[in-house]
Amino acid sequence: MQVIIASCAAEVATLGARYCLDLINSKQSPVLGLATGSTPVALYKELIEMYENNQLSFKQTHTFNLDEYLGLATSHPQSYRYFMNSQLFQHIDIDLNNTYVPNGMSEPKTAASEYEAQIKHCGGIDLQILGVGRNGHIGFNEPSSSLVSRTRVKTLAKQTLDDNKRFFNPGEFQPSLAITMGIGTILEADKILLLATGSAKANAIKELVEGPLSASCPASALQMHRDTIVIIDTQAAAALEHQTYYQQVTTQTEQLDYNND
Ligand code: F6R
Repeated sequence: MQVIIASCAAEVATLGARYCLDLINSKQSPVLGLATGSTPVALYKELIEMYENNQLSFKQTHTFNLDEYLGLATSHPQSYRYFMNSQLFQHIDIDLNNTYVPNGMSEPKTAASEYEAQIKHCGGIDLQILGVGRNGHIGFNEPSSSLVSRTRVKTLAKQTLDDNKRFFNPGEFQPSLAITMGIGTILEADKILLLATGSAKANAIKELVEGPLSASCPASALQMHRDTIVIIDTQAAAALEHQTYYQQVTTQTEQLDYNND
């Protein structure tokens, strides 16, 4: 695992976008795993800008989102399909038929196994973008999730419901179930980029990077992945004990021609 501590949230997005650019420009049919929530929005803005500046094209790219609420139609402004269309897909040259978000309106078991099959059919995910919940969730794999789980329905934790309440109008139906890629599914991505900004994420980052491997912090499962890069700002890094070491690894990795994970 490599931990990159950026000076601010904007730099987190810039660094993250650079990895996406490298992937898209180096593969004929790149497969990108995407996340929703507040964290990746700045990265998506960077990708849109890169597209507008002719630095990349998404014509050959397939995307797979991590999760979707159960019971929200794709036209619902809080559905993750709606989010992806409005935050990214509408602004770039991607073929919408090549963008996959779990189906929150069909029979969940079938939707889950179909999603796994679609990922497989596209050759697996090359680069998975992740955020992290304050409780250490990745996707909607809440604490106690199986570390080898596959795409399935998951009950959202109270903290997640509280954190995401801000997106819903008062009195509006907020789903308490979601369909999410499993931790085992996520860990099959070739490369993983986890982004986090702000002090609210400091504890989760501490557990993820320096805590024990534990279902109590699902993100700690990334310790078992061969090529994960955690890009965080100084606020999200604040609780890490070995910040100086991570900075040293980053500096030396830039000078090396091989992995230093
Ligand atoms: C979103 C997702 C979640 C979020 C996490 C952080 O698709 O899977 O794991 O990444 O809840 O959300 P924000 O970025 O809003 O703090």
